[in-house]
Amino acid sequence: MRIAVLEESAPGERRVALVPDNVARLVKSGHAVRLERGAGEAAGYPDTAYAAAGATLGSPAETLEGAEVLAAVQRPSAELVERLPAGLLLVGLLQPDRSRPLLEALAARGVAVLAMEKVPRITRAQAMDALSSQASLAGYKAVLVGANALPRLLPMMTTAAGTLAPAKVFVVGAGVAGLQAIATARRLGAVVSAFDVRPAVKEQVQSLGASFVEVPAVAAEGQGGYAKELGQEEQARVLSAIAAHVADMDLVITTAQIPGKPAPRLVTAAMVRTMRPGSVIVDLAAETGGNCELTRPGETVLEGGVAVVGAVNLPASMPLHASQAYGRNVLTLLQHLATGEGAPRLDPADEITGAMLVVHDGKVRAT
Ligand code: NAI
Repeated sequence: MRIAVLEESAPGERRVALVPDNVARLVKSGHAVRLERGAGEAAGYPDTAYAAAGATLGSPAETLEGAEVLAAVQRPSAELVERLPAGLLLVGLLQPDRSRPLLEALAARGVAVLAMEKVPRITRAQAMDALSSQASLAGYKAVLVGANALPRLLPMMTTAAGTLAPAKVFVVGAGVAGLQAIATARRLGAVVSAFDVRPAVKEQVQSLGASFVEVPAVAAEGQGGYAKELGQEEQARVLSAIAAHVADMDLVITTAQIPGKPAPRLVTAAMVRTMRPGSVIVDLAAETGGNCELTRPGETVLEGGVAVVGAVNLPASMPLHASQAYGRNVLTLLQHLATGEGAPRLDPADEITGAMLVVHDGKVRAT
C-alpha cells in the first residue's frame, strides 16, 4: 500500500497519524510511506527519525501523489478535500456522527472513509481502539488540569506547620477516561468518588480505591458496553444524587457520553452555585455539549468562584504519547486492511472494516 501522512491542520492539533516506529514496521512489510515534511515535529518526531524509518519526505502535493491511503488524526480541511485524489482511502478520527456535509463531499470526490471512532469494541479490534487510547490520556490529563486550577493540594500533607487535608475529587462517568482519572487522582493522594449509570462499573471504581456513589434503581447499559440515555424519572434520581454529592467536592471531573447523542446534562448551574469558591469542574464532554450546564468548549467559566473548564482535545496537549498510541491503532488497522498487493481491502462484510466504513463506493453509509 502507498500510505500518506500530512501535517494536521485543525487548530491546536499537535498529534501525527503515524510515528516513526509505525513507519518502520509498514516499510518492513513492503508498504511505502510518504510524509509531509515537518508533519511529526509538533508531536516530537523529527523528519530525520521518519527518514531513518524508511519514509519519503516531501511537500503536501508530493505526499498525496499516487497515495492509496491517507492516515490522519482529525478531519481534513475543505481545501484539502478538494485536493484528495479519487480512489483514496481516508482514515481518521472524523466525528462521522457530526460531519455529514464533509462525508458527502468526500463521497462526491470518490474518497472512501474509515472512521476510527467506529472501531467495534471486540477483543480482536482492541489494538485499533483509538477512542480508548485517546480517552485514557484525556482522563489522566483532566486531573492534572484540575489540580493546576485548584487553590489547594490533592494529597494530604503533614508538615511542621500542620496538616493540610486532601482534596475531594468526584468523577462522573467511569468509562475509559473516568477510570484513568480516578487512578490518577488516587495516585496524587486525593479522596476519590465516582458515579456511572452502568452498574458493572461499581467494582472497577472500588478496585481503584474510590467510593461509588449509589443511585437506587438506575441501570442504563446499552449496546456494545456503552451507556444509553436515561428515562426522565431515572435522570431525576441521578441529578438529585449528584446534587447532594457535588456541594462538598473540590474537583469534579465529568466524562459522561452517550454514543451519537449530546452529552447528558449532569451538573446544573444551580449545583455549581452550591459548591465552595475555589472548586473546579473539568468537563471532558465539552465538545459534545458538556455534562455541566455552564461549560463552554475551550473556555474556563467562573461562577461564584467555581471554575468550569471546558476541556477540548486534551490528547493534543500530550502529542508524543497520544501519537504513539494513536499511530499504533492506525498501524494495526492498516495491517488488517493490507492484502499484500497494493490497494487496501475494503470489505463491507468484514466485522471491523464494515463497522468503520462510513463512505464507500461514492456513497455515505448509515453510521
Ligand atoms: P463513553 O465515552 O461513551 O462514556 C463515558 C462514560 O460515561 C461511560 O462509562 C458511560 O456509562 C458513562 N455515562 C453515560 N451517561 C451517563 C450518565 N447519565 N451518568 C453517568 N455516567 C454516564 O464510554 P467509554 O469510556 O468509551 O466506554 C464505555 C465502556 O465500553 C467501557 O467502560 C468498557 O466497558 C467498554 N469498552 C470495551 C472495550 C472493548 O471491549 N474492546 C474497549 C473500550 C471500552
